[in-house]
Amino acid sequence: MKSLYGVIGSPIAHSMSPLIHNDAFQQKGMDAHYHAFHVEPNELKAAVAGMRALGVNGFNVTIPHKEAIIPLLDSVEDAALKIGAVNTVLNRNGRLIGYNTDGRGFVEALKEVTELKDKQILIIGAGGAARAIFYTLAQEEGVRLDICNRTVSKSVELMEEFSLQGIARSITTEQAAKEIQRYDVVVQTTSVGMFPKINDTPLPFHSIKQHAVFSDIIYNPLETKLLQEAKALGAVTQNGIHMFAYQAALAFKIWTGELPDTDRMKKLVQEHLGGKPC
Ligand code: ATR
Repeated sequence: MKSLYGVIGSPIAHSMSPLIHNDAFQQKGMDAHYHAFHVEPNELKAAVAGMRALGVNGFNVTIPHKEAIIPLLDSVEDAALKIGAVNTVLNRNGRLIGYNTDGRGFVEALKEVTELKDKQILIIGAGGAARAIFYTLAQEEGVRLDICNRTVSKSVELMEEFSLQGIARSITTEQAAKEIQRYDVVVQTTSVGMFPKINDTPLPFHSIKQHAVFSDIIYNPLETKLLQEAKALGAVTQNGIHMFAYQAALAFKIWTGELPDTDRMKKLVQEHLGGKPC
């Protein structure tokens, strides 16, 4: 019987997950289908019960359900619990198990362009995406993390919640801008620079460290103003397609035990968005 996978969220019509997962199933010769389900918050409980009742093999979870789904699952892996968000659910013999592949997906993507050991990293933002990235990056050996956010209390809270004093510091955006030359890696997790506000950057800078890597989780536009400016100063840049592909690939592995071709996933997303590699 054909296996069924999917994603639940709202809005969901423009999700590129069906495109890359269905292609990966086809590439692997697996008899499976991935479908996007529009689910409003007041229908989440019923939707999860439906997934269980219908025997859906696994599904992704996106905005606005990543936190709310936790109490509806049978178990949740430790990292997802700490992050406080689930983006992947596996149906194992009727038990729904929650995972978070966003943080790991980001780190795997970042490792394609830089080693992380002993690196000085700046994270901009302290929202949902930053939580997963901050928590996962902090597990890497020798990293030193600074986090800045428009609302400073949120980055301080995050640091304290994850008990990262010693590894991480919360600093102001002004301080981060002033000291930008210290960072080997700059990670942009806010919505600043996203379509339609494509001319905004979360902080100003005029010089960067030599060989610095700038990674922005935004992929629409494919190259944010921040990445354009960093690239002009000689940085290696990476857009959000890379994280998107890796979080999907890790979900696919949880469901099937096999890792899909992430380069192919990136290419499909890029073609879909109609742009050149970044
Ligand atoms: P996500 O789940 O995508 O991370 P979120 O949880 O709403 O979304 O977080 C959005 C992030 O973008 C936050 O760090 C937010 O800063 P605040 O905590 O101060 O709200 C940041 N952000 C959004 N708009 C911003 C702006 N105009 N300037 C600076 N930061 C902004």
